[in-house]
Amino acid sequence: MGKESLTVTDNRTGKSYEISIQEGAIRAMDLRQIKVNDDDFGLLSYDPAFMNTASCRSRITYIDGDRGILHYRGYPIEQLAQKSNYLEVAYLLLNGELPTHAQLDDWTQSVKLHTMLHESVKKFVDGFHHDAHTMGMLVGTVGALSTFYPDAKHIHDAESRRMQICRVIAKMPTVAAFAYRHRKGLRYAYPDNELTYCGNFLNMLFKMTEVRYKPDPVLERAIDVLFILHADHEQNCSTSAMRGVGSSQVDPFSAIAASAAALYGPLHGGANEQVLLMLAEIGSSANIPSFIKKVKAGEGRLMGFGHRIYKSYDPRARIIKEIADQVFEVTKRNPLIDVARELERIALEDEYFIKRKLYPNVDFYSGIIYQAMGIPVEMFTVLFAVARTSGWMAQWQEMLLDPEQKIARPRQVYLGHDRRDFVPIEKRG
Ligand code: CMC
Repeated sequence: MGKESLTVTDNRTGKSYEISIQEGAIRAMDLRQIKVNDDDFGLLSYDPAFMNTASCRSRITYIDGDRGILHYRGYPIEQLAQKSNYLEVAYLLLNGELPTHAQLDDWTQSVKLHTMLHESVKKFVDGFHHDAHTMGMLVGTVGALSTFYPDAKHIHDAESRRMQICRVIAKMPTVAAFAYRHRKGLRYAYPDNELTYCGNFLNMLFKMTEVRYKPDPVLERAIDVLFILHADHEQNCSTSAMRGVGSSQVDPFSAIAASAAALYGPLHGGANEQVLLMLAEIGSSANIPSFIKKVKAGEGRLMGFGHRIYKSYDPRARIIKEIADQVFEVTKRNPLIDVARELERIALEDEYFIKRKLYPNVDFYSGIIYQAMGIPVEMFTVLFAVARTSGWMAQWQEMLLDPEQKIARPRQVYLGHDRRDFVPIEKRG
Protein backbone atom coordinates (compact mmCIF):
# COMPACT_ATOMS: atom_id res chain seq x y z
CA MET A 1 0.00 0.00 0.00
CA GLY A 2 1.12 3.56 -0.73
CA LYS A 3 1.60 6.40 1.68
CA GLU A 4 -1.24 7.19 4.14
CA SER A 5 -1.80 10.66 2.76
CA LEU A 6 -3.71 12.66 0.19
CA THR A 7 -2.12 15.07 -2.27
CA VAL A 8 -4.47 17.88 -3.20
CA THR A 9 -3.82 20.45 -5.89
CA ASP A 10 -5.66 23.75 -5.59
CA ASN A 11 -6.40 24.64 -9.22
CA ARG A 12 -7.00 28.27 -8.20
CA THR A 13 -3.35 28.66 -7.25
CA GLY A 14 -1.63 25.58 -8.68
CA LYS A 15 -0.29 24.80 -5.18
CA SER A 16 -0.23 21.22 -3.90
CA TYR A 17 -0.73 20.10 -0.30
CA GLU A 18 -0.13 16.78 1.38
CA ILE A 19 -2.82 15.87 3.91
CA SER A 20 -2.37 12.87 6.15
CA ILE A 21 -4.97 10.11 6.38
CA GLN A 22 -5.58 8.53 9.77
CA GLU A 23 -8.07 5.74 10.38
CA GLY A 24 -9.62 6.33 6.96
CA ALA A 25 -10.22 10.03 7.55
CA ILE A 26 -8.58 13.35 6.84
CA ARG A 27 -8.78 16.11 9.43
CA ALA A 28 -11.08 18.89 8.22
CA MET A 29 -8.78 21.39 9.94
CA ASP A 30 -5.97 20.33 7.57
CA LEU A 31 -7.99 21.93 4.76
CA ARG A 32 -7.68 25.33 6.44
CA GLN A 33 -4.11 25.75 5.15
CA ILE A 34 -5.46 25.75 1.57
CA LYS A 35 -5.77 29.45 0.79
CA VAL A 36 -5.88 31.66 -2.30
CA ASN A 37 -3.96 34.41 -0.49
CA ASP A 38 -3.00 35.41 3.04
CA ASP A 39 -6.36 37.10 3.68
CA ASP A 40 -8.29 34.01 2.71
CA PHE A 41 -9.89 32.22 5.71
CA GLY A 42 -8.95 28.83 4.27
CA LEU A 43 -10.92 25.99 2.73
CA LEU A 44 -13.96 24.61 4.58
CA SER A 45 -15.67 21.29 3.99
CA TYR A 46 -19.43 21.71 3.44
CA ASP A 47 -21.49 18.75 4.66
CA PRO A 48 -25.18 19.43 5.31
CA ALA A 49 -26.76 16.67 7.44
CA PHE A 50 -23.26 15.30 8.16
CA MET A 51 -23.43 12.78 5.34
CA ASN A 52 -19.66 12.22 5.35
CA THR A 53 -18.28 13.83 8.49
CA ALA A 54 -17.02 11.98 11.55
CA SER A 55 -17.52 14.22 14.58
CA CYS A 56 -15.69 12.01 17.05
CA ARG A 57 -13.57 8.91 17.50
CA SER A 58 -15.58 6.39 19.44
CA ARG A 59 -15.07 2.94 20.93
CA ILE A 60 -18.68 2.23 21.83
CA THR A 61 -20.77 1.03 18.88
CA TYR A 62 -19.76 -0.30 15.48
CA ILE A 63 -22.12 -0.46 12.49
CA ASP A 64 -21.39 -1.87 9.06
CA GLY A 65 -24.39 -0.54 7.15
CA ASP A 66 -23.73 -2.50 3.95
CA ARG A 67 -23.49 -5.83 5.68
CA GLY A 68 -26.12 -5.19 8.38
CA ILE A 69 -23.71 -5.58 11.30
CA LEU A 70 -24.12 -3.99 14.73
CA HIS A 71 -21.71 -4.46 17.64
CA TYR A 72 -21.66 -2.90 21.10
CA ARG A 73 -18.07 -2.73 22.36
CA GLY A 74 -17.24 -5.48 19.87
CA TYR A 75 -20.03 -7.87 20.86
CA PRO A 76 -22.54 -8.76 18.09
CA ILE A 77 -26.05 -7.51 18.82
CA GLU A 78 -27.46 -11.00 18.14
CA GLN A 79 -25.38 -12.50 20.97
CA LEU A 80 -26.25 -9.71 23.39
CA ALA A 81 -29.96 -10.01 22.57
CA GLN A 82 -29.83 -13.73 23.16
CA LYS A 83 -27.57 -13.96 26.20
CA SER A 84 -27.56 -10.68 28.07
CA ASN A 85 -29.99 -8.34 29.78
CA TYR A 86 -30.50 -4.59 29.53
CA LEU A 87 -28.61 -3.55 32.68
CA GLU A 88 -25.65 -5.75 31.76
CA VAL A 89 -25.59 -4.17 28.29
CA ALA A 90 -25.84 -0.71 29.85
CA TYR A 91 -22.80 -1.56 32.01
CA LEU A 92 -20.95 -2.77 28.92
CA LEU A 93 -21.73 0.41 26.97
CA LEU A 94 -20.71 2.63 29.87
CA ASN A 95 -17.59 0.77 31.00
CA GLY A 96 -16.32 -0.92 27.88
CA GLU A 97 -16.24 -4.47 29.30
CA LEU A 98 -18.81 -7.01 30.41
CA PRO A 99 -19.16 -6.99 34.21
CA THR A 100 -18.11 -9.77 36.58
CA HIS A 101 -20.83 -11.23 38.82
CA ALA A 102 -19.88 -8.84 41.63
CA GLN A 103 -19.77 -5.81 39.33
CA LEU A 104 -23.16 -6.65 37.83
CA ASP A 105 -24.74 -7.16 41.26
CA ASP A 106 -23.31 -3.89 42.47
CA TRP A 107 -24.46 -1.98 39.35
CA THR A 108 -27.95 -3.54 39.43
CA GLN A 109 -28.27 -2.70 43.12
CA SER A 110 -27.14 0.90 42.55
CA VAL A 111 -29.71 1.39 39.79
CA LYS A 112 -32.45 -0.09 41.98
CA LEU A 113 -31.55 2.32 44.77
CA HIS A 114 -32.40 5.25 42.53
CA THR A 115 -35.68 4.25 40.88
CA MET A 116 -37.83 6.52 43.08
CA LEU A 117 -38.64 10.09 42.09
CA HIS A 118 -38.85 13.05 44.43
CA GLU A 119 -42.53 13.43 45.40
CA SER A 120 -42.58 16.90 43.85
CA VAL A 121 -41.99 15.34 40.44
CA LYS A 122 -45.50 13.90 40.71
CA LYS A 123 -46.89 17.42 41.04
CA PHE A 124 -44.89 18.42 38.00
CA VAL A 125 -46.34 15.53 35.94
CA ASP A 126 -49.83 16.35 37.31
CA GLY A 127 -49.48 19.78 35.75
CA PHE A 128 -49.55 18.39 32.22
CA HIS A 129 -52.84 18.44 30.35
CA HIS A 130 -54.78 15.16 30.59
CA ASP A 131 -54.08 14.29 26.95
CA ALA A 132 -50.50 15.60 26.80
CA HIS A 133 -48.26 13.44 24.60
CA THR A 134 -46.15 11.16 26.79
CA MET A 135 -42.96 12.13 24.90
CA GLY A 136 -43.61 15.81 25.67
CA MET A 137 -44.06 14.87 29.33
CA LEU A 138 -40.87 12.81 29.31
CA VAL A 139 -38.78 15.56 27.69
CA GLY A 140 -40.08 18.17 30.14
CA THR A 141 -39.82 16.02 33.24
CA VAL A 142 -36.35 14.62 32.65
CA GLY A 143 -35.12 18.17 32.03
CA ALA A 144 -36.78 19.25 35.27
CA LEU A 145 -34.81 16.57 37.17
CA SER A 146 -31.75 18.81 36.88
CA THR A 147 -33.46 21.17 39.35
CA PHE A 148 -33.69 18.35 41.90
CA TYR A 149 -30.02 17.40 41.54
CA PRO A 150 -27.92 20.58 41.41
CA ASP A 151 -24.82 18.42 42.04
CA ALA A 152 -25.29 17.13 38.49
CA LYS A 153 -23.45 20.25 37.34
CA HIS A 154 -20.16 18.70 38.56
CA ILE A 155 -19.59 16.97 35.27
CA HIS A 156 -15.80 16.84 35.67
CA ASP A 157 -16.08 14.87 38.90
CA ALA A 158 -16.00 11.15 38.06
CA GLU A 159 -17.99 10.19 41.18
CA SER A 160 -20.69 12.75 40.43
CA ARG A 161 -20.89 11.52 36.84
CA ARG A 162 -21.29 7.95 38.04
CA MET A 163 -24.09 9.07 40.37
CA GLN A 164 -26.00 11.00 37.70
CA ILE A 165 -25.67 8.16 35.19
CA CYS A 166 -27.08 5.76 37.74
CA ARG A 167 -29.88 8.19 38.64
CA VAL A 168 -30.98 8.88 35.12
CA ILE A 169 -30.93 5.21 34.01
CA ALA A 170 -32.91 4.31 37.15
CA LYS A 171 -35.43 7.14 36.91
CA MET A 172 -36.23 7.20 33.18
CA PRO A 173 -38.62 4.20 33.44
CA THR A 174 -40.33 5.81 36.44
CA VAL A 175 -40.80 9.13 34.63
CA ALA A 176 -42.03 7.25 31.54
CA ALA A 177 -44.53 5.20 33.55
CA PHE A 178 -45.78 8.28 35.44
CA ALA A 179 -46.39 10.05 32.12
CA TYR A 180 -48.35 7.03 30.89
CA ARG A 181 -50.48 6.79 34.04
CA HIS A 182 -51.14 10.50 34.10
CA ARG A 183 -52.56 10.28 30.58
CA LYS A 184 -54.63 7.28 31.59
CA GLY A 185 -55.87 8.97 34.74
CA LEU A 186 -54.44 6.17 36.85
CA ARG A 187 -52.76 6.49 40.23
CA TYR A 188 -48.96 6.44 39.88
CA ALA A 189 -47.45 3.03 40.63
CA TYR A 190 -44.22 3.15 42.61
CA PRO A 191 -41.16 1.07 41.73
CA ASP A 192 -40.94 -2.48 43.06
CA ASN A 193 -37.25 -3.15 43.52
CA GLU A 194 -37.78 -6.88 43.97
CA LEU A 195 -38.38 -6.99 40.23
CA THR A 196 -35.90 -6.75 37.39
CA TYR A 197 -35.39 -3.42 35.57
CA CYS A 198 -37.86 -4.41 32.84
CA GLY A 199 -40.21 -6.32 35.17
CA ASN A 200 -40.45 -3.24 37.35
CA PHE A 201 -41.15 -1.07 34.31
CA LEU A 202 -44.11 -3.31 33.45
CA ASN A 203 -45.19 -3.08 37.10
CA MET A 204 -45.14 0.72 37.03
CA LEU A 205 -47.13 0.72 33.78
CA PHE A 206 -49.72 -1.94 34.46
CA LYS A 207 -50.16 -2.51 38.22
CA MET A 208 -53.82 -2.16 39.17
CA THR A 209 -55.38 -3.36 42.44
CA GLU A 210 -53.19 -6.42 43.04
CA VAL A 211 -50.90 -6.25 46.07
CA ARG A 212 -47.90 -7.30 44.02
CA TYR A 213 -47.61 -7.14 40.27
CA LYS A 214 -46.18 -10.26 38.65
CA PRO A 215 -44.82 -9.60 35.16
CA ASP A 216 -45.30 -12.29 32.55
CA PRO A 217 -41.79 -13.71 31.98
CA VAL A 218 -42.19 -13.79 28.18
CA LEU A 219 -43.25 -10.14 28.02
CA GLU A 220 -40.59 -9.12 30.53
CA ARG A 221 -37.93 -10.79 28.40
CA ALA A 222 -39.36 -9.26 25.21
CA ILE A 223 -39.04 -5.77 26.72
CA ASP A 224 -35.52 -6.64 27.89
CA VAL A 225 -34.49 -7.67 24.36
CA LEU A 226 -36.16 -4.62 22.79
CA PHE A 227 -34.30 -2.40 25.26
CA ILE A 228 -30.98 -4.11 24.40
CA LEU A 229 -31.61 -3.51 20.69
CA HIS A 230 -32.35 0.17 21.28
CA ALA A 231 -29.55 0.86 23.77
CA ASP A 232 -27.11 2.56 21.40
CA HIS A 233 -26.63 3.26 17.72
CA GLU A 234 -23.52 5.45 17.45
CA GLN A 235 -23.82 8.99 16.07
CA ASN A 236 -27.52 9.18 15.18
CA CYS A 237 -29.53 12.41 15.50
CA SER A 238 -30.35 12.16 19.23
CA THR A 239 -26.83 11.01 20.15
CA SER A 240 -25.34 13.86 18.16
CA ALA A 241 -27.74 16.12 20.09
CA MET A 242 -26.38 14.60 23.31
CA ARG A 243 -22.78 15.21 22.28
CA GLY A 244 -23.53 18.66 20.90
CA VAL A 245 -25.56 19.88 23.87
CA GLY A 246 -23.35 18.05 26.38
CA SER A 247 -20.29 19.74 24.89
CA SER A 248 -21.54 23.02 26.36
CA GLN A 249 -20.89 21.32 29.74
CA VAL A 250 -24.53 21.49 30.79
CA ASP A 251 -25.71 18.89 33.37
CA PRO A 252 -26.67 15.45 31.97
CA PHE A 253 -30.40 15.74 32.79
CA SER A 254 -30.67 18.82 30.56
CA ALA A 255 -28.62 17.10 27.86
CA ILE A 256 -30.86 14.01 28.03
CA ALA A 257 -33.91 16.24 27.59
CA ALA A 258 -32.32 17.59 24.39
CA SER A 259 -31.55 14.07 23.14
CA ALA A 260 -35.07 12.88 23.91
CA ALA A 261 -36.46 15.88 22.02
CA ALA A 262 -34.36 14.91 19.00
CA LEU A 263 -35.58 11.32 19.29
CA TYR A 264 -39.22 12.47 19.32
CA GLY A 265 -39.13 13.46 15.61
CA PRO A 266 -40.95 11.18 13.13
CA LEU A 267 -37.79 10.59 11.08
CA HIS A 268 -35.99 9.27 14.17
CA GLY A 269 -37.48 7.47 17.21
CA GLY A 270 -40.92 8.91 16.49
CA ALA A 271 -41.07 6.58 13.48
CA ASN A 272 -42.28 3.63 15.59
CA GLU A 273 -45.44 5.56 16.42
CA GLN A 274 -45.86 6.58 12.77
CA VAL A 275 -45.53 2.95 11.62
CA LEU A 276 -48.54 1.93 13.67
CA LEU A 277 -50.60 4.87 12.44
CA MET A 278 -49.59 3.95 8.89
CA LEU A 279 -50.46 0.25 9.31
CA ALA A 280 -53.81 1.18 10.84
CA GLU A 281 -54.48 3.50 7.92
CA ILE A 282 -53.63 0.76 5.40
CA GLY A 283 -55.96 -1.52 7.36
CA SER A 284 -55.67 -4.70 5.29
CA SER A 285 -53.31 -6.36 2.85
CA ALA A 286 -55.65 -5.55 -0.02
CA ASN A 287 -54.84 -1.85 0.35
CA ILE A 288 -51.04 -2.27 0.25
CA PRO A 289 -50.51 -1.86 -3.53
CA SER A 290 -52.34 1.48 -3.61
CA PHE A 291 -50.40 2.64 -0.53
CA ILE A 292 -47.06 1.69 -2.12
CA LYS A 293 -48.11 3.53 -5.27
CA LYS A 294 -48.67 6.72 -3.24
CA VAL A 295 -45.27 6.38 -1.52
CA LYS A 296 -43.56 5.93 -4.89
CA ALA A 297 -45.34 9.02 -6.16
CA GLY A 298 -43.74 10.96 -3.31
CA GLU A 299 -46.93 11.22 -1.23
CA GLY A 300 -45.46 10.27 2.13
CA ARG A 301 -42.88 7.72 3.18
CA LEU A 302 -43.05 4.09 4.10
CA MET A 303 -42.42 4.60 7.79
CA GLY A 304 -40.09 2.10 9.46
CA PHE A 305 -38.20 1.68 6.18
CA GLY A 306 -34.85 3.11 5.18
CA HIS A 307 -31.84 4.20 7.17
CA ARG A 308 -28.99 6.64 6.77
CA ILE A 309 -26.41 3.95 7.58
CA TYR A 310 -28.03 0.56 6.87
CA LYS A 311 -28.19 -0.17 3.19
CA SER A 312 -29.22 -3.75 3.95
CA TYR A 313 -31.56 -5.38 6.47
CA ASP A 314 -31.32 -3.70 9.89
CA PRO A 315 -30.13 -6.55 12.18
CA ARG A 316 -32.34 -5.20 14.97
CA ALA A 317 -35.46 -5.51 12.80
CA ARG A 318 -34.62 -9.17 12.13
CA ILE A 319 -34.43 -9.95 15.87
CA ILE A 320 -37.62 -8.01 16.64
CA LYS A 321 -39.51 -9.84 13.92
CA GLU A 322 -38.59 -13.12 15.61
CA ILE A 323 -39.78 -11.95 19.06
CA ALA A 324 -43.21 -11.05 17.71
CA ASP A 325 -44.42 -14.65 17.55
CA GLN A 326 -43.24 -15.38 21.10
CA VAL A 327 -45.15 -12.36 22.36
CA PHE A 328 -48.30 -13.27 20.45
CA GLU A 329 -48.35 -16.65 22.21
CA VAL A 330 -49.01 -14.75 25.43
CA THR A 331 -51.00 -11.77 24.17
CA LYS A 332 -53.71 -11.61 21.57
CA ARG A 333 -52.20 -11.73 18.09
CA ASN A 334 -51.89 -8.25 16.64
CA PRO A 335 -53.56 -8.49 13.21
CA LEU A 336 -51.37 -5.63 11.96
CA ILE A 337 -48.44 -8.08 11.84
CA ASP A 338 -49.97 -9.63 8.72
CA VAL A 339 -50.25 -6.22 7.06
CA ALA A 340 -46.64 -5.43 8.08
CA ARG A 341 -45.23 -8.72 6.77
CA GLU A 342 -47.07 -8.36 3.47
CA LEU A 343 -46.00 -4.72 3.20
CA GLU A 344 -42.38 -5.78 3.75
CA ARG A 345 -42.67 -8.57 1.18
CA ILE A 346 -44.14 -6.30 -1.48
CA ALA A 347 -41.70 -3.45 -0.79
CA LEU A 348 -38.65 -5.70 -0.90
CA GLU A 349 -39.67 -6.95 -4.36
CA ASP A 350 -40.33 -3.45 -5.68
CA GLU A 351 -37.79 -1.74 -7.92
CA TYR A 352 -38.22 1.63 -6.09
CA PHE A 353 -37.14 0.17 -2.73
CA ILE A 354 -34.52 -2.17 -4.19
CA LYS A 355 -32.82 0.66 -6.09
CA ARG A 356 -32.68 2.89 -3.03
CA LYS A 357 -31.67 0.02 -0.71
CA LEU A 358 -34.62 0.60 1.60
CA TYR A 359 -35.17 -2.18 4.14
CA PRO A 360 -37.20 -2.42 7.36
CA ASN A 361 -35.49 -0.65 10.26
CA VAL A 362 -35.77 -1.11 14.03
CA ASP A 363 -39.04 0.82 14.15
CA PHE A 364 -40.93 -1.32 11.65
CA TYR A 365 -41.90 -4.22 13.94
CA SER A 366 -41.31 -2.89 17.47
CA GLY A 367 -44.62 -1.01 17.72
CA ILE A 368 -46.65 -4.08 16.72
CA ILE A 369 -45.17 -5.94 19.69
CA TYR A 370 -45.68 -3.03 22.08
CA GLN A 371 -49.28 -2.67 20.97
CA ALA A 372 -49.97 -6.38 21.50
CA MET A 373 -48.63 -5.95 25.04
CA GLY A 374 -51.22 -3.24 25.70
CA ILE A 375 -48.80 -0.33 25.40
CA PRO A 376 -50.46 2.59 23.62
CA VAL A 377 -48.97 4.10 20.47
CA GLU A 378 -47.93 7.39 22.12
CA MET A 379 -45.66 5.41 24.48
CA PHE A 380 -43.55 3.77 21.75
CA THR A 381 -40.99 6.55 21.41
CA VAL A 382 -40.91 6.87 25.19
CA LEU A 383 -39.79 3.24 25.42
CA PHE A 384 -37.12 3.95 22.84
CA ALA A 385 -35.91 6.90 24.95
CA VAL A 386 -35.79 4.82 28.14
CA ALA A 387 -33.65 2.21 26.41
CA ARG A 388 -31.41 4.72 24.61
CA THR A 389 -30.55 6.49 27.88
CA SER A 390 -27.62 4.14 28.58
CA GLY A 391 -26.20 4.80 25.11
CA TRP A 392 -26.64 8.55 25.46
CA MET A 393 -24.83 8.45 28.80
CA ALA A 394 -21.99 6.30 27.45
CA GLN A 395 -21.52 8.72 24.54
CA TRP A 396 -21.75 11.73 26.88
CA GLN A 397 -19.04 10.34 29.13
CA GLU A 398 -16.80 9.40 26.19
CA MET A 399 -17.20 12.93 24.80
CA LEU A 400 -16.32 14.54 28.14
CA LEU A 401 -13.22 12.40 28.59
CA ASP A 402 -11.96 12.93 25.04
CA PRO A 403 -9.20 15.57 25.17
CA GLU A 404 -9.84 16.45 21.52
CA GLN A 405 -13.45 17.47 22.11
CA LYS A 406 -14.49 21.07 22.75
CA ILE A 407 -17.79 22.88 22.56
CA ALA A 408 -19.44 21.75 19.32
CA ARG A 409 -19.62 24.67 16.94
CA PRO A 410 -19.95 24.03 13.21
CA ARG A 411 -19.03 26.60 10.60
CA GLN A 412 -21.37 27.92 7.91
CA VAL A 413 -21.06 29.00 4.31
CA TYR A 414 -22.56 32.51 4.47
CA LEU A 415 -24.72 33.44 1.46
CA GLY A 416 -26.49 36.51 2.85
CA HIS A 417 -26.11 40.21 2.11
CA ASP A 418 -22.83 42.08 2.27
CA ARG A 419 -22.71 44.96 4.76
CA ARG A 420 -25.49 47.50 4.20
CA ASP A 421 -26.82 50.51 6.10
CA PHE A 422 -29.97 50.45 8.21
CA VAL A 423 -33.01 51.96 6.45
CA PRO A 424 -35.50 53.90 8.66
CA ILE A 425 -38.99 52.30 8.51
CA GLU A 426 -40.60 55.28 6.70
CA LYS A 427 -38.07 54.94 3.88
CA ARG A 428 -38.62 51.21 3.25
CA GLY A 429 -40.42 50.42 0.02
N1 CMC B 1 -40.08 5.56 2.10
C1 CMC B 1 -40.00 5.94 0.81
N2 CMC B 1 -38.90 6.47 0.26
C2 CMC B 1 -37.84 6.62 1.05
C3 CMC B 1 -37.84 6.24 2.41
C4 CMC B 1 -39.03 5.70 2.92
N3 CMC B 1 -39.10 5.31 4.20
N4 CMC B 1 -36.65 6.51 2.97
C5 CMC B 1 -35.89 7.05 1.99
N5 CMC B 1 -36.61 7.11 0.84
C6 CMC B 1 -36.13 7.56 -0.47
C7 CMC B 1 -36.04 9.07 -0.54
O1 CMC B 1 -37.25 9.64 -1.00
C8 CMC B 1 -34.89 9.25 -1.48
O2 CMC B 1 -35.35 9.01 -2.78
P1 CMC B 1 -34.81 9.91 -4.02
O3 CMC B 1 -33.34 9.54 -4.12
O4 CMC B 1 -35.61 9.50 -5.18
O5 CMC B 1 -35.01 11.35 -3.62
C9 CMC B 1 -33.94 8.10 -1.14
O6 CMC B 1 -34.79 7.08 -0.62
C10 CMC B 1 -32.88 8.48 -0.09
O7 CMC B 1 -33.55 9.01 1.05
P2 CMC B 1 -32.96 10.13 1.99
O8 CMC B 1 -34.10 10.87 2.63
O9 CMC B 1 -31.94 10.93 1.25
O10 CMC B 1 -32.19 9.23 3.04
P3 CMC B 1 -31.70 9.68 4.48
O11 CMC B 1 -30.51 8.86 4.79
O12 CMC B 1 -31.56 11.16 4.56
O13 CMC B 1 -32.94 9.28 5.42
C11 CMC B 1 -34.34 8.18 6.93
C12 CMC B 1 -32.94 8.23 6.30
C13 CMC B 1 -34.35 7.10 8.01
C14 CMC B 1 -34.68 9.53 7.59
C15 CMC B 1 -35.36 7.84 5.82
O14 CMC B 1 -35.09 6.58 5.27
C16 CMC B 1 -36.82 7.90 6.32
O15 CMC B 1 -37.43 8.96 6.34
N6 CMC B 1 -37.39 6.71 6.76
C17 CMC B 1 -38.71 6.72 7.33
C18 CMC B 1 -38.65 7.14 8.77
C19 CMC B 1 -38.05 6.05 9.65
O16 CMC B 1 -38.40 4.90 9.57
N7 CMC B 1 -37.16 6.47 10.56
C20 CMC B 1 -36.53 5.58 11.51
C21 CMC B 1 -35.07 5.38 11.22
S1 CMC B 1 -34.33 4.03 12.15
C22 CMC B 1 -34.48 4.41 13.81
C23 CMC B 1 -34.07 5.75 14.23
O17 CMC B 1 -33.19 6.41 13.69
O18 CMC B 1 -34.63 6.19 15.22
